[in-house]
Amino acid sequence: MENFVFYNPTKLVFGKNTVEQIGEYLKKDKIKKVLLLAGGGSIKKNGVYEKVVRSLIENSIEKVEVWGVRANPVVSKVREAIDVARKEKVDAILAVGGGSVIDSGKAVAAGVMYEGDVWDFYQGKATPKDALPLYTILTLSATGTEMNGGTVVTNEELLEKFSFWSIHTFPKVSIVDPEVQYSLPPHQTVNGAVDAISHVMEYYFDGAKRTDLIDRVDESIILTLMETTEALLNDPKDYDARANFALSTTLALNGISGLGHRGGDWSSHAIEHALSALNPEVAHGAGLAVVFPAWMKYVYKANPTKFRRFGRTIFRLKNSTPTQAIDALKRWYKKIGAPTTLKELGFKREDIETLTEIAAKTVPMGKLVKLEKEDIRKILEIAYEEE
Ligand code: NZQ
Ligand code: ZN
Repeated sequence: MENFVFYNPTKLVFGKNTVEQIGEYLKKDKIKKVLLLAGGGSIKKNGVYEKVVRSLIENSIEKVEVWGVRANPVVSKVREAIDVARKEKVDAILAVGGGSVIDSGKAVAAGVMYEGDVWDFYQGKATPKDALPLYTILTLSATGTEMNGGTVVTNEELLEKFSFWSIHTFPKVSIVDPEVQYSLPPHQTVNGAVDAISHVMEYYFDGAKRTDLIDRVDESIILTLMETTEALLNDPKDYDARANFALSTTLALNGISGLGHRGGDWSSHAIEHALSALNPEVAHGAGLAVVFPAWMKYVYKANPTKFRRFGRTIFRLKNSTPTQAIDALKRWYKKIGAPTTLKELGFKREDIETLTEIAAKTVPMGKLVKLEKEDIRKILEIAYEEE
């Protein structure tokens, strides 16, 4: 087990009827005016927006709104929101939506306090020294962004989808009300499951040794996500399944699942980000369902014991080979309706070259195996071919 420091400053407010508490939390923190950041309108359809507005009014909090953060969010929208936040002199950002809205909220919160261009943070040219306080209301459990300092945004001109992490961009208060996710279409629940399972696996397979406790925690998170996904595909309004699913996705990337690890591998994430940078219609979770198993096939020889353990503990395979364990994961992805090949995502063989170029901007990558550009190309070829 590796040394670690664990600190997570986010106050997580979890459960039924918690959305309407937002105004009280803001008032307690002496916030007078917020920038409410939102996506394409789902929060108007499912009643979340109305509850938020009522709670703000009841607590005398002023607001200015910025709408239109899209899935796989873009930096031009972030810049627009930074301008509004400055002009309107807001004291906090309130992001209401899925990972894309919350990630954009983090960029706005840090960007407002920075004189240069916010993209500098994503390119590693600058690091945030401060940020406006960020409050979040999560409507889609998947990314873990509700309780971490990470943000992922696309620069649509440069075709780069990059991330940064800062202690200043953890949400101050994060509300997770599983009931607001009853309105999710099934494929978004599936994407969320794959994303969260992938977060756990990034740590699980990073080559750390004797992480006995966290291995069991990680396996529990994955098993809970698998059980609750199947339950939710049967009944999207099963509250306890939604709640256990939501808590699993939060624990998958709030630091807990990687304690004592080597920081995670993250190659599959970096390669997936190239997919959604090139084609923003590709959801992050769907891209991971294709890339992660291909990465596993490419690297398992670096730690076959762990892959056999994965087969045994997750899929109850007796004496399985690593390949059988990986195939079992792919079978489950197919069962829940996730894609497993680049072809299914609409990519053509000639796209492999462009995807390799985009992903290779951040080489070398990975912990279990250090990947260079040629390795990425081979992984993408596996992802293209293998059913
Ligand atoms: O835009 P609206 O109308 O709100 O609709 C959204 C969007 O179309 C919809 N939706 C959200 N909540 C809903 C709902 N529809 C019905 N009912 C609800 N309750 O779902 C669609 C997808 O939303 P999005 O926010 O894009 O999805 P997700 O939460 O999966 O976020 C994905 C983004 O997060 C990044 C990904 O790369 C991707 O850009 N990630 C962020 C991470 C982090 N900050 O830690 C880590 C992850 O690995 C990931 O990279
Ligand atoms: Zn992810």
